[in-house]
Amino acid sequence: MSASNTPEAVFVRACRGQAVPYTPVWFMRQAGRSLPEYRKAREGIAMLDACRRPDLVCELTLQPVRRHVVDAAILFSDIVLPLAEIGVKVEIVAGVGPVVAEPIRDEAAVAKLRPLLPERLDYVAEAVRLTVAELSGTPLIGFAGAPFTLASYLVEGGPSRQYERTKAMMYRWPDVWHALCSQLAETALEFLRVQVAAGVSAVQLFDSWAGALSEADYRRFVMPHSAHVLRGLSDAGVPRIHFGLGTGHLLAPMAQAGADVVGVDWRTPLSSAAQAVGSGVALQGNLEPAALFAPWPVVEAEVRRVLEEAGTATGHVFNLGHGVLPETDPDVLTRVVALVHEASAR
Ligand code: CP3
Repeated sequence: MSASNTPEAVFVRACRGQAVPYTPVWFMRQAGRSLPEYRKAREGIAMLDACRRPDLVCELTLQPVRRHVVDAAILFSDIVLPLAEIGVKVEIVAGVGPVVAEPIRDEAAVAKLRPLLPERLDYVAEAVRLTVAELSGTPLIGFAGAPFTLASYLVEGGPSRQYERTKAMMYRWPDVWHALCSQLAETALEFLRVQVAAGVSAVQLFDSWAGALSEADYRRFVMPHSAHVLRGLSDAGVPRIHFGLGTGHLLAPMAQAGADVVGVDWRTPLSSAAQAVGSGVALQGNLEPAALFAPWPVVEAEVRRVLEEAGTATGHVFNLGHGVLPETDPDVLTRVVALVHEASAR
C-alpha cells in the first residue's frame, strides 16, 4: 500500500477534501447493541463503568472494525461521561438514555459545576493510547457532546422531545444560559484535547439535538459556544466533524462554527448540503438507518444514491444519517462497507 492508501490517509484525506482512491466509510454507533459480541462483553457492566475501563473500551472499539473492516473506529465512550467528572450525578439508563439526578435550572446550579481537570480523564487517555496501538493504522475518532446537546440533558434531567425547559432558560435567563454553555464548551474542549493528546486522528462534535432550534436561535444561543470548542482545536492537526440530527436548516452555521466536515442526516440530500456548507467543507452521511432493514437490492440502490448525491461535495465520508439501530443485521453493515468501497473506487 502506498502512503496515501493507508486507512488513516484515506479517511483523513476525505475529511480534508483531498483526492482519495475510494470513499471511506464508518457508522455512528457501530459499537453497540447490533453486535452479539458487544452484548456479551457488556453483560452486567453499567454503560459509564464500561467507559472507565480502558481494556474494555479498547475491545468494544475494535469489535466493529474487525467485523466490518470500516475505515475508522470511534472511541467507545459517551458524551455525558465528562459531565460526571465536573460534579453532575448522571447515569445512562438502558433503553432511555442519560438521566441527571439533580437537573440544572438556575444560576446557583450552574455555579456548582466544576472545571474539568484533565487528570480526571486519565482513563480516557489510557484507553485512547491502548486502542490506537491495537488498531495498527486504522484511524480512531474521538468525540464530545456539543454545549446545546449536553445542556439539554442537564436542564431537562434526561431525554426530551420539545426541550421546553432548555429553551425556557435560553429565553428567560440568557445570562444563565450563556454561563452554562460556556462551562460546557470548556468541558467539551478539554475532553477533546485529552483525546487528541493521546492520539486520535479526528474528532466529532455531536450536537445531536440542535435541530430543534431555528437558525436565528442557533446563531445567537449556540453557535458561539460550539465555535469555541471547534476553534479551540484549529491548531490540533486533526479534522473536526460537526454533526446534528434534523439540522438541514443549520448546515451553513454549523460549518461556519469551524468544522472541516459537516455530518448530515438522511432528511437532506448531500447535493443540497454541499451547496449549504459551500466549497472547502466536506460532508459525512447520510444513509437512512432504517433503510438497512430493506431487502439487499433496496439497500444497494440507496447506498448508490447517497454516493451519487455526494458527487458535488468537497469530500465525502460515507456514514448513516444517525446511529446504527440496535435491531440492524450486522451482516448488512459489512456488505454496505464492501459496496461503498467497490462502487466508489476511482
Ligand atoms: O459506536 C459509537 O458510536 C461510539 C460510542 C458512542 C456511544 N454514545 C456509546 C453508547 C457515541 C459516539 C455516543 C454519543 C452519544 N451519546 C450521543 C450522540 C450521538 C447520537 O446518538 O446522536 C448521545 C445523544 C448520547 C447520549 C446517549 N447515550 C443516548 C441517547 C443513549 C442511548 C440510550 C439507549 O439505550 O437507547 C446512550 C447510551 C449509549 N451510548 C449506548 C452506547 C453503545 C447504548 C447503551 C448500552 O448499550 O447499554
